[in-house]
Amino acid sequence: MLKVMVVFGTRPEAIKMCPLVIELQKREGIKCVVCLTGQHREMLRQVMDVFGIREDYNLDIMKEGQSLSLITVNVMDGFDKVLRKETPDIVLVHGDTTTSFAAALSAFYLRIPVGHVEAGLRTYEMHSPFPEEFNRQAADLVSTLYFAPTKAAKQNLLEEGKPENNIFVTGNTVIDALRYTVNGDYRDACLEWAKDSRMILLTTHRRENLGEPMEHIFRAVRTVAEENADIKVIFPVHKNPEIRKLAEKYLAGEDRIRMIEPLDVMAFHNFMARSYLILTDSGGIQEEAPAMGIPVLVLRDVTERPEGVEAGTLQLVGTEEREIRQSVERLLKDERLYRKMSQSVNPYGDGRASVRIADILVKQIWRR
Ligand code: UD1
Ligand code: UDP
Repeated sequence: MLKVMVVFGTRPEAIKMCPLVIELQKREGIKCVVCLTGQHREMLRQVMDVFGIREDYNLDIMKEGQSLSLITVNVMDGFDKVLRKETPDIVLVHGDTTTSFAAALSAFYLRIPVGHVEAGLRTYEMHSPFPEEFNRQAADLVSTLYFAPTKAAKQNLLEEGKPENNIFVTGNTVIDALRYTVNGDYRDACLEWAKDSRMILLTTHRRENLGEPMEHIFRAVRTVAEENADIKVIFPVHKNPEIRKLAEKYLAGEDRIRMIEPLDVMAFHNFMARSYLILTDSGGIQEEAPAMGIPVLVLRDVTERPEGVEAGTLQLVGTEEREIRQSVERLLKDERLYRKMSQSVNPYGDGRASVRIADILVKQIWRR
């Protein structure tokens, strides 16, 4: 029996790992053990509930306003104990969070092979996104198997000298997740409120956007809402208290803006599907939106997801108030531009990434 330890700790990792856990649990010959670090608490639980997965371990490390160092030491300390007890054949981490980096390092220290799901994404700018660019490069340094979502990600890994035999282009498991969530009949009171308008969905959370960049974003959104009677903005606000304070300061009191609690992933994907436009600094949303054909203005200066920009669905607008405002206005007024951005192209796979990853694990390629 092959023992596969799957470890994750934040909302986006969970959304992209749960379809894989479900696939691994179906396979005879694989015992799948799930360890949550609990870097997120409520936002992680929401995902587990939607997918109906129960974890075997939860390190429950989250603290309000946690520092990167604290996350790192607590993940490593807790996960090291779990690894020593379970002695898995391989550990799977996902993406670029501090959970992923710290868990991969713990496994490496115990000489347990690491498989990195969503490997090879790069901006090659260590401070953008911060600290994610470090986290993913560091995770790849200690990994044995690389599950690259796209050919471009594989190319990055090859150029860094990673062994080609251990790199697999699988597609992104986020497309697998969409198969569980998007539902044409989905109903919600907030969607009812927005239904007579063009709906703009907003999310922000990046550490490098905290402070002044986020103030710019919020001021731009408020002005757009004040000046356009036919739009409504829905903003599921991240649980980070720093973001909540800023959001309240700049966005409260405008009737065309609704700030709500983070949506569970089923709701969020259906909100996305009904949106006219999405404004976000998120990584995962940059992958989901092209699959749905919803235009996205990316509130960042660089992206590790060039495929969505090439496909035409994503436009990088940075975090300057004027640029954001003008870009939104353009999309509200220029129908041709809007149509061009909403052409549905999906560069991230066919929704079978989990099946491919499970197939590769079954073959135990890292042991050859
Ligand atoms: C983390 C990841 C980031 C990822 C994001 C997804 C790191 C360093 N950052 O950033 O890569 O894009 O998750 O959302 O790994 N909080 C709660 N409840 C929750 C979740 C968060 O109260 O369920 C609050 C806590 O006060 C916490 C703060 O939000 O301290 C920040 O959470 P943290 O995981 O440190 O950073 P994120 O910005 O969420
Ligand atoms: N998401 C969600 N509820 C929300 C906002 C986002 O379920 O209220 C989902 C979204 O569909 C995507 C993921 O969370 O799959 C993105 O997470 P986030 O933006 O927090 O992190 P990132 O992808 O930037 O690491």
